[in-house]
Amino acid sequence: MPRPPLASIDLAALRHNLAIARQRAGQSALWAVIKADAYGHGMLDVLPALQAADGFAVARLEEAVKLRKADPDKPILLFEPLSSLSDFQQAAALRVQVCCSHIEQIALLQQLSAHAKLQVWLKLDSGMHRLGITPAQLPQARQKLLQCKAVQSLTLMTHFSSADDRNSPATQAQTDCLLSLNHPPFERISLSNSAALLGWPAIGHEQARPGIMLYGASPLIHVSAAALNLQAVMTFSSRLLAVNQLKKGDPVGYGASWVCPQDMPVGVIAAGYADGYPRHAPSGTPVWLNGAKVPLIGRVSMDLISVDLRSQAHAVSGDKVELWGKNLPADEIAQAAETIAYDLFCGVSARVPRVYRDA
Ligand SMILES: Cc1ncc(COP(=O)(O)O)c(C=O)c1O
Repeated sequence: MPRPPLASIDLAALRHNLAIARQRAGQSALWAVIKADAYGHGMLDVLPALQAADGFAVARLEEAVKLRKADPDKPILLFEPLSSLSDFQQAAALRVQVCCSHIEQIALLQQLSAHAKLQVWLKLDSGMHRLGITPAQLPQARQKLLQCKAVQSLTLMTHFSSADDRNSPATQAQTDCLLSLNHPPFERISLSNSAALLGWPAIGHEQARPGIMLYGASPLIHVSAAALNLQAVMTFSSRLLAVNQLKKGDPVGYGASWVCPQDMPVGVIAAGYADGYPRHAPSGTPVWLNGAKVPLIGRVSMDLISVDLRSQAHAVSGDKVELWGKNLPADEIAQAAETIAYDLFCGVSARVPRVYRDA
């Protein structure tokens, strides 16, 4: 067993969360989003638990190359808008489905021969204003793509900006925008991320693309993962390195930003921002120790954090701690550190060993 800190990845929980996505998507195809090394969980290691997905979606061509080597058959969708002919040729050779998000890409696709046989997802900017063809450009883009010898099929897709907020009008507006342009109907359409699957049941979930829900964090604001019946996949744990008996007035950590209000025990944990613990987590952020929460105190440093042990007088060095996971939802830590669980998961650094468990 590697020394802590480590990230234990529960493959049974991943399968469970995929089954929830499957229930929500009904008969629709489900693309498991495994970009960014499966949101920090280890792309190749989680593949066996995601075999029930209809395809995999990644963000970078390099990820698609790695994935195709590991799985010769599964459909792969690449979100990154490719910008050179050779990249398109490579995607075609790997049977990777590609996104077309800019008019300029069409000129490259027009140069590909019929052998290339590409399945293309035409990305519509329905309101995110990040990537995508504008509604005004769409009819012409569609026509040009259909005339490309290499283009075998066309899916119309868009990505929601605010589906995490069920009170936001943006999701319905983006859906209406896409549906108003789906005439004559594209072969396939694709709208839903995790938040849409779980929070917007009235939206058609054709070709759904869930990511974060698979890893057991909630995609919806003000709704916990437990309320959505999602299970934590990653448990980020470490151990107490030392228990120090400090005096009233003793400062703790860099900048002396926290000062002991009384004589008290302080625990030092082997985890810091170089492991992926959020640097901006404030004093009070919970850490799970011996079946209860204890508060972080002082600044997070590169390799260490400190905790207030006044409620855990019997804690000793070597005790296991959970930074987030089964007992302490990543969403709770993310909220304390003013970030999102996506950021926490992706931020767990390469020096933290991933250990895989299956029920
Ligand atoms: C185009 C696209 N579709 C789907 C997803 C998955 O989103 P989520 O992880 O919120 O389910 C992402 C993630 O950012 C994305 O960029």
